[in-house]
This record gives sequence, structure tokens and C-alpha cells, in this order.
Amino acid sequence: MSHYKDIKRITTHVLQEMKNTGEKISMLTAYDFSMATIVDKAGTDVILVGDSASNVMAGHETTLPITLDQMIYHASSVIRAVKRSLVVVDLPFGNYQGDSKGALHSAVRIMKESEAHAVKLEGGREVVESVERILTAGIPVMGHLGLTPQSIYKFGTYTVRAKEEEEAKRLLEDALLLQEKGCFAIILEKVPATLAEKVAKKLTIPVIGIGAGGGVDGQVLVLHDMLGITQEFSPRFLRRYHDLHNEMLSAFENYIKDVKSKDFPNKDEQY
Ligand code: KIV
Repeated sequence: MSHYKDIKRITTHVLQEMKNTGEKISMLTAYDFSMATIVDKAGTDVILVGDSASNVMAGHETTLPITLDQMIYHASSVIRAVKRSLVVVDLPFGNYQGDSKGALHSAVRIMKESEAHAVKLEGGREVVESVERILTAGIPVMGHLGLTPQSIYKFGTYTVRAKEEEEAKRLLEDALLLQEKGCFAIILEKVPATLAEKVAKKLTIPVIGIGAGGGVDGQVLVLHDMLGITQEFSPRFLRRYHDLHNEMLSAFENYIKDVKSKDFPNKDEQY
């Protein structure tokens, strides 16, 4: 049993200690109060208010359309639920690329209006100015390398990244740069397990993987995917812990049946 379970509040320092002592970090996404209450209660170390909200909450095909105001709305709902987890919020597409002053302004809005604990942004050397500027305000920054969904139209597909030596070398350089600039952790998405392990070993800060194998310092999954609410998304790395889509479907079908047959409400369910 982990002694970290008794820690009242997870901070970036606690995550660093976890890396140092070999304790794996658990991270899940959440976007609303009710779900975040349960995710936090379960003892998840980090909650990511991901821009995957654009997909799973709003139904967009990509993460690009979600706005800063919408991210702040989701983050505030999560923060109101959380007692222990560290809450990290994605900076949405268009709010930090090529504009470090805009990046700082957006990060400050997230921290001030949602009361979250840190921000995350995608990319390496091309966003390093934004990372540095956000850090000057004392806002912790998490990096995100490998498959970076905000660049989907550049990549063209959601396939595994950095399989070629050149891209793998660039990824490692970017990871070291983000660490040097002061990121407290890095997400590695959909890269070969051997590369991810190498990065985690070279870096002194925590490296958290999604589709990056078991050799990293922690794991993150999108809540709706791991609960089996989404069905069409089925990458190899996804472990489903529930079949909530079908459980909910049958609950709704039973409710409709009971309403139609006048079984609901019965005498005990009325005033
Ligand atoms: O937005 C998100 O949910 C993410 C995770 C996939 C890491 O960035």
C-alpha cells in the first residue's frame, strides 16, 4: 500500500518525490463536478481538465474548437469537487502558439478564474517562449510531446509518433529543453515504449504516458474512454475498466419501458 494515499494534497513537489521514490503517478481526465468528485475520492494523483473535453463533452471531431472560456468553465466545475488531486488544465489551441504574452494572459485567466493548480501545453522548442513566460508568473507548467492532438492537421493521422530516429532524437531534445526551462512534468502520448522509457530515465522530472508503455513514471487515460462510455475509439493502449455505454443504455431503456408501461412512478414514488 502506498504511503502517498494519506497525503492530504498532491502538489508538484509530491509528484517529484513520487518520481524519486519510484511510486507510479495516476492521472485521469475530468471535466465536471460529479465525475471529478469520484475521481478525486478514488485517490487519483492528478486530474487533467483536458481539451479532450472538445471531443467527449462537446462532440467535436478534434480538440481545436474548444475555447478558453469553455476550458475555464470545465476547470471551475472540477476544482469545486476536488480535495486531494492536483488539477492541471490544458491551454486550448490558439491561446499560446506563437504568442507568449497571450500564453501568459490565458494561463493567468485559468489560474485566477478556475483556481486550478497548473497548466499544460503541447509542443517542444516551438512553444518554449510561452513556457518560460508562464513560469515567470509562478504558474507550474506541464509539457506534452509525441502525439499532440492540437497539431492533428499537420500530422494528418493519430498514429504512433517518433518511430523514426530523427523524430525520436528531436523528441528527447525537446523533453530535456522543457525540463531545463522549468516544466514540472511531461506527458508523452503515443510513442514507442522503448523511447518513452529512455526519456523517463534521462529526465529527472516525472514523465507520464498515454500509449507510451510501462517504463514511464505514471499513466493518464481519458475518463470516458477508460469507463467505456466512448465506444468507437479503441486504440491498443486503452484498457477499459467498465462498459458504461451499455450499462447506461440499458438503464435508459428500462426507464423508458417503465414510463411507457406506467410502472413508473408507483405508489411509493409519489406524494
Ligand atoms: O486532453 C487530454 O485529455 C490530454 C490527454 C490525452 C493527455 O491531453
